[in-house]
Amino acid sequence: MPCRAPLLSLLLFLLLGSLRASGAESSPHLPAPKDVMVYSYNFRSSLRWSPVKVDRGLVLYTVHFKTGAFNQWDEMNCTRITQTECSFPWSLKERRWTVVLRVRAELGQVTSDWVETDPFVAERNTTIGPPKVNSVTESSDSLLISVTPPFGSEAGDFLQYHVSYWENTTSTTKKVIKTSSTLFKIKSLKEWTLYCFEIQVELMTHSDLHLFGLQSIPECYRTKISEATRAGYIVLIFVLVLLFVNLVAVGLFLLWRHHKTIKYWSRPPLEIPSHFEEYLKDPSMPVLEVLDNYAEDDPHDSLSVVFCGEGSQACGSSLDGQAHSHTISSDSEVT
Ligand SMILES: *[C@@H]1O[C@H](CO)[C@@H](O)[C@H](O)[C@H]1NC(C)=O
Ligand SMILES: *[C@@H]1O[C@H](CO)[C@@H](O)[C@H](O)[C@H]1NC(C)=O
Ligand SMILES: *[C@@H]1O[C@H](CO)[C@@H](O)[C@H](O)[C@H]1NC(C)=O
Repeated sequence: MPCRAPLLSLLLFLLLGSLRASGAESSPHLPAPKDVMVYSYNFRSSLRWSPVKVDRGLVLYTVHFKTGAFNQWDEMNCTRITQTECSFPWSLKERRWTVVLRVRAELGQVTSDWVETDPFVAERNTTIGPPKVNSVTESSDSLLISVTPPFGSEAGDFLQYHVSYWENTTSTTKKVIKTSSTLFKIKSLKEWTLYCFEIQVELMTHSDLHLFGLQSIPECYRTKISEATRAGYIVLIFVLVLLFVNLVAVGLFLLWRHHKTIKYWSRPPLEIPSHFEEYLKDPSMPVLEVLDNYAEDDPHDSLSVVFCGEGSQACGSSLDGQAHSHTISSDSEVT
């Protein structure tokens, strides 16, 4: 049978071919990307996902998109890329379009399953950042604020700034003003007071959607002091200085007028220190000796003199010199 061998090889070929084909479709061995999310901030959007980890080889990713209008998958300029992020191309900048994306991992001929996102509509799903505060000009009763919108607006957009402001005290009651101007004033403020404000953008589109942005970080500014108050303070200070000068002048005049009397009364009284006084009354007392000995370098000697002279029992112990404290206590006994 000469035709058997070719038939067998043909069968084998078909079998292998079908195996390879099924392998190319999807392999259960390569996991699909996880955490697939559309990140969109101020209408700049991208698809991001977590990397797929395998033991060996470099995993590549491919991203497709389709819009609500053309229900057909298309390439997105992110075919077999190594990064785990794919920015939206210019062709998908239309904010009202509904876009669905899908991504899969690829390793050689092996691919993972596709992972699809939820429908994404930029004007509904994007996160709007806070506006940028360019400058704040303080006056006594208002703050003049200039801002830049967080993104370039399109025809049909209507941007409003919600400005919350409050006095920086313990009881914070916030007031809100709404404006569509990028240069606006917070009015009717107290002078010389610290005020804080934060701004949030509201985007109203022609499809009547209201999208609120993130709050800006609070900024605080002190209002200026008004001219009237400044003048008032100057007058007050002037009056106080005048008063002070007058008081000083009157004081000096009185001093000069009664300087003799004051001199008499302010003379220091003549007093004799109590030790001397007692000594003068009774010179036989040894107070002076004690005082003398205090001045000397070696207090031990002095002790022996004093105590032995008195003939007290303390004489012996004081000779071996343990005592300053003895001196003091005996001293008080003596005097
Ligand atoms: C596709 O990506 C390449 C490389 O990042 C870039 O040079 C090119 O302009 C992109 N094309 C489109 C249509 O976005
Ligand atoms: C867009 O917003 C809608 C409604 O809030 C939500 O259901 C959808 O999951 C969001 N799309 C994406 C891609 O996050
Ligand atoms: C505002 O007041 C709070 C407490 O009331 C204080 O902690 C904070 O430092 C103040 N801000 C400024 C800018 O002084």
